[in-house]
Amino acid sequence: MNTLRHSEIAGVGHYVPDRVVTNADITQIMETTDEWIQERTGIRERRWFEEGKDTTANMGANASRKALEMAGLTPDDVQLIVFATLSPDYVFPGSGVLMQRELGIKANIPALDVRNQCSGFVYALSVADQFIKTGMYDTVLVVGSEIHSSGLDKSTRGRAVSVIFGDGAGAVVLRPTTEDGRGILSTHLHAQGEFAEELIVREPGSNFENRVQRSISNPEEMYPYMNGQNVFKHAVVRFPQVIKEALDQNGYQPSDIDMLIPHQANLRITQYVQQKMGLSDDKVYSNVQRYGNTTAASVPIALSEAVQEGRIKRGDLVCMAAFGSGFTWASALIRW
Ligand code: UT7
Repeated sequence: MNTLRHSEIAGVGHYVPDRVVTNADITQIMETTDEWIQERTGIRERRWFEEGKDTTANMGANASRKALEMAGLTPDDVQLIVFATLSPDYVFPGSGVLMQRELGIKANIPALDVRNQCSGFVYALSVADQFIKTGMYDTVLVVGSEIHSSGLDKSTRGRAVSVIFGDGAGAVVLRPTTEDGRGILSTHLHAQGEFAEELIVREPGSNFENRVQRSISNPEEMYPYMNGQNVFKHAVVRFPQVIKEALDQNGYQPSDIDMLIPHQANLRITQYVQQKMGLSDDKVYSNVQRYGNTTAASVPIALSEAVQEGRIKRGDLVCMAAFGSGFTWASALIRW
């Protein structure tokens, strides 16, 4: 019996901006078509934030309030914030402290920002899980929140990247459990820095003598660059690998998975992974069609919707997996 202290997800929630941007809307601002976007990515629409209303930190707070409500807790119960984003409100400080303020948490609890892009939420979950396992904290808020739309090249030059990304936030509350075989069974993290420049925003980078001036004179370097085909090629290898790693460690087969929550990068990638793992449609959650790729927010938004829709029930084996910029990739296996 493994009755050692580990974590369980006590609550989950998400928030997406109200503004729906369809593929037809995108065709009004750059040369692209609904057919191209749907055929290559599966995306039909995404959400774009509303300036003055939505921020990376307050969207994270909105998602967190829902997760805390589901857990029957309040912001004052939180002992640690782990906040994953590649689109922080400020260059510094991180969005974690801003969300702490937004939630009105008066106690001087720590707030930690995680920078692992599409794998950010699963990395953050793993970090939080370690703090619970050691007994250092009992209640940890793990958040993924992104505003991509303000940083995209919305001209035709940027179309291969800009049609993909969307805004949103998701959050979970972790609490300790000693119940054998339930909760987070294991997490698995990987990185391969040799591919750092394959999916990147270069500026404002710190490695130039006058980085502010340099950014201003290289505005195109402040937009994301992606070598899409190479990212795709690695994604379809790393997703199945890291899912299998989680299953192997816990003595399970792909057929034991009740729900796979993959990072929502591209419907074609998800379908490839689904076929490779031999999973039926009802065992794989996809909402990239409605939200595009929200990087660190995509896994918790998908998890939150799957729970809301009753597609994850107590006792289900849930696998989360992500791959993205870095390259980084990660998985988590959970008995719900
Ligand atoms: O979340 C992090 C991980 N990210 C991913 O996993 C993304 C992985 N990559 C992908 O999903 C795909 O590579 C994309 C969806 C980004 C692109 O699809 P692709 O099939 O690799 O297209 P491509 O970049 O090779 O471009 C094919 C053609 C090009 O035209 P030519 O050179 O063949 O004439 C592009 O100029 O499609 C053109 N194109 C577009 N056309 C209409 C690129 N973007 C667009 C667009 N609308 N938005």
